[in-house]
Amino acid sequence: MSIVYLNDEYLDSKQAQISVMDRGFLFADGVYEVIPAYNGQYFRFEQHISRLNQSLAAIHLPLSISLANWQQIALRLLEANELVNATLYLQVTRGVDPVRQHLLTQSPKPTILAMVTPLPEIQLQANIKDLAAVVAVTAITRTDIRWHRCDIKSTSLLANCLLLQEALENGKDDTILVRNGYAVEATASNLFMVKGQQIITPPLDAEILAGVTREFVLWLAKELGFSTQERLISESELATADEIWLTSTNKEIRPVVELNDVNIGTGRAGPVWQQLFEAYQQLKNDLYQGFNPLS
Ligand code: PDD
Repeated sequence: MSIVYLNDEYLDSKQAQISVMDRGFLFADGVYEVIPAYNGQYFRFEQHISRLNQSLAAIHLPLSISLANWQQIALRLLEANELVNATLYLQVTRGVDPVRQHLLTQSPKPTILAMVTPLPEIQLQANIKDLAAVVAVTAITRTDIRWHRCDIKSTSLLANCLLLQEALENGKDDTILVRNGYAVEATASNLFMVKGQQIITPPLDAEILAGVTREFVLWLAKELGFSTQERLISESELATADEIWLTSTNKEIRPVVELNDVNIGTGRAGPVWQQLFEAYQQLKNDLYQGFNPLS
């Protein structure tokens, strides 16, 4: 049985129900977050909640839940589900309307859902040698067919799903999205490229999500002495990268070893990735041992 939080109640997921008139269901009128917990400690929780608040403000949805409230809900869900390594999913929709109407409800009573699932096995591994091959992915590039507010973490993800499906139908793992000739991000992760000793990622704007992992990887790269750049990456430049990575809460840092059927670098996870990945895993191990160097 899994226990979820829905509008102030902790319920068996089978009992948790949402109205067919919920605007989240009818219009994808809602936003969400995904936050990892390692050994009972949420990672970058404040940053995720701050982005949730930005998404809520961007869709004009007022919500008065403090960081402490969210923390309480998040920790109680771990306890109720007897999990310490987990992924927390939060979703806030504009709530239920009496009739289906495009007009935004004036005094909304938002629908608030939170649930946890066990962390994927791959994120619990500590042995990096085995992991390098396991985490490597292949990708294709496609035109980005999403809207122009990808900075909002909206639940409207149909375009992302279709673009991912296209990769899977081509026997690949993911799709890197291209807008006006520039590679922006992947279907559910941010994009990095390594050229020589430079680590490059597209700049933040309305076309991409400000990934919490992206920001963390930029910080980690600087800590390790790499030079980083936030600038546009053309599709043709990406094809000549020494290394390509995808970053997200679930993927952490994934090396892309093949793009459009052509090897990237040697066709195996690269040395810069290896360093960043080791540092990331070290940090997770610190968390597992109850030490949080970032808090
Ligand atoms: N997605 N870009 C997109 C389009 C994403 O959907 C995500 C994450 C990211 C990376 O964000 P972060 O580092 O904060 O996880 C970038 C989540 C994990 C999801 O949709 O499940």
